[in-house]
Amino acid sequence: MPETPNPTPAHVAIIMDGNGRWAKQRGLPRIEGHRRGVETVRSIIDAAKELGIRYLTLYAFSVENWKRPQDEVGALMSLLEYFLKRETATLVKNQVRLLAIGRTQDLPEFVRRQLEAAIAATAHFTGHTLVLALNYGSRTEVIDAARAYAAAVAAGKISPDDSSWETFSRHLYTADLPDPDLVIRTSGEYRVSNFLLLQAAYSEFVFTPVAWPDFTKADLVAAIAAYSKRERRYGQTSEQLKTVTTD
Ligand code: IPE
Ligand code: IPE
Ligand code: MG
Repeated sequence: MPETPNPTPAHVAIIMDGNGRWAKQRGLPRIEGHRRGVETVRSIIDAAKELGIRYLTLYAFSVENWKRPQDEVGALMSLLEYFLKRETATLVKNQVRLLAIGRTQDLPEFVRRQLEAAIAATAHFTGHTLVLALNYGSRTEVIDAARAYAAAVAAGKISPDDSSWETFSRHLYTADLPDPDLVIRTSGEYRVSNFLLLQAAYSEFVFTPVAWPDFTKADLVAAIAAYSKRERRYGQTSEQLKTVTTD
């Protein structure tokens, strides 16, 4: 099979999974896995920048994760606050813009405060963007987008006759982001768990057995290497892609 190398993905999105099992295997409480997972987050943000990835999206908390035991949810929120507080200076130093997608308005006030401060402190950077998916779920995103879209139609800003993916997708949380080129899920699970369902329509997927606390820059490099060999056809044939068009 001919190699069809893709350039470095502009946007990598990661479903960071396996913290709990990583801890359990070591006889540790689940929260210890989440703590180690935060350290992985820090190293992968740096690695992504070094590798020239312009957008890195990390699935940190899903709308379904509220169903976990209350003490785990509380610990995750505290860790999130701690991460944002500690990481803001590093993001500024490395000139990384922070964005969040999800129903962030429903996060606890102490988390929202840190999140808003970090977003404001990094808003002027343009080279690299870190997107945290927080209280995120694709289905709630569609509901929120449909509501905003309907309001725009009712206000006469959009004609329903002009409905298209372009006009609708401007109402998603990801309106200002390119679609992910590569989606990685760690810990050996083969599912998308309500993550970027629409945006990943033509993403390449890499699943790795490595649990998130053990995920390293080398694993990211390996995922990108696998991605670079894929042929992204977007519904066309392989032969069409090899035909050089001159217009
Ligand atoms: C991912 O690890 C972190 C979050 C979903 C917040 P998990 O906590 O899902 O770890 P496992 O899947 O139970 O091992
Ligand atoms: C997906 O992981 C959500 C995040 C990584 C934040 P989960 O561990 O919550 O997913 P399921 O429940 O195994 O599908
Ligand atoms: Mg999990």
